[in-house]
Amino acid sequence: MTEVLQVDPTAPDPALIARAAECLRAGGLVAFPTETVYGLGAHALDRRAVQRVFAAKERPANDPLIVHIATIDDIPPLVNDIPRAARDLAGRFWPGPLTMVLRRSEGVPDEVTAGLDTVAIRVPSHPIAQALLQCARLPIAAPSANRFSRPSPTRAAHVLDDLRGRIDMIVDGGPTSVGLESTVIDLAHQPPTVLRPGAVDVATLRSVIPDVRLNSTPAERGTAGMPAPGMLPKHYAPATPLTLFEDDRTTAIDEIVQTARRHRERGQSVAILAFREDLEQLRALPVPLLDLGYESDPPAVASRLYAALREADKLGVDVILVRNITTDHPLSTAIQDRLRRAASPLPFPPSP
Ligand code: TXA
Ligand code: MG
Repeated sequence: MTEVLQVDPTAPDPALIARAAECLRAGGLVAFPTETVYGLGAHALDRRAVQRVFAAKERPANDPLIVHIATIDDIPPLVNDIPRAARDLAGRFWPGPLTMVLRRSEGVPDEVTAGLDTVAIRVPSHPIAQALLQCARLPIAAPSANRFSRPSPTRAAHVLDDLRGRIDMIVDGGPTSVGLESTVIDLAHQPPTVLRPGAVDVATLRSVIPDVRLNSTPAERGTAGMPAPGMLPKHYAPATPLTLFEDDRTTAIDEIVQTARRHRERGQSVAILAFREDLEQLRALPVPLLDLGYESDPPAVASRLYAALREADKLGVDVILVRNITTDHPLSTAIQDRLRRAASPLPFPPSP
């Protein structure tokens, strides 16, 4: 049985938070909202609890988890010394959507780190996540609360769809605000490298640590050069094949229209994830259009993206078509990264 607690995100009820904290302390699995996506929490120093996280998600054991703490003061049991760069980044971005990979201490179970000599740590800003961490007084290991390889959950209903009956509790605090997972930066190796782009973009990180490098995108890297266990190219995918169009707006809309026609001629059903600016041009097609928000408003697109991918999946169509965001904005790199990871190889070669 999975119990759902409705909690007001602006003023979390201490009695409900205490129940969720008690469940975590006893080795239970509790999904809770963060400002990025819902996490599936477990007592990070309890091996059995952490093993249950992998089982519930069907996540491969070589994919390490992020440990969440209430403030930087809670780092000591996890790492032996805190590098200067980590303190500087924490001062600027914590609490918030930044995860730092640091050299781990002996105290962190191998189950959390997948046997690596590093541990990923984040201080989330969401009031429910903060209340839970402060009440439980534990480091909480929490991957995104989806089944492995499904899009991350941005609403409690997504968690229920994937994990109902497999976890003890869900704290439902409504939709998450950012909608994409945190930026992951590796500070354990030189130069500091962004392993996963997110809401904190590289340009902003460079204002604090000038030599930060951004790992190449999965599309450029291919499957051979994996930077870290778990950074799989197909990590954020819907079950339905998704074709991504990367050209400029006019060309991409044209290609979507033609590709949709070709699929339909072959008797295949299509859904399109559409920016609102494109609706006028796509409406003539006899296919369902799912709203991604305005391309000119990347924060809105980020917060809608995973819900839209899940809705498209539920339609049971043969293929999903979408064009990539072209807006120049700090969030665009992260949105582009997630769409590339969700995409399958092109079914039709581009026309000459
Ligand atoms: O926004 C987020 O980060 C959400 C919320 C719940 O905090 N969590 C999240 O966790 O997205 P997860 O497990 O879905 O993604 C964690 C990523 C994985 O790609 C994993 O490989 C990487 O962080 N990671 C964790 N520990 C690592 C380590 N020691 N070295 C390199 N990468 C690591
Ligand atoms: Mg995940």
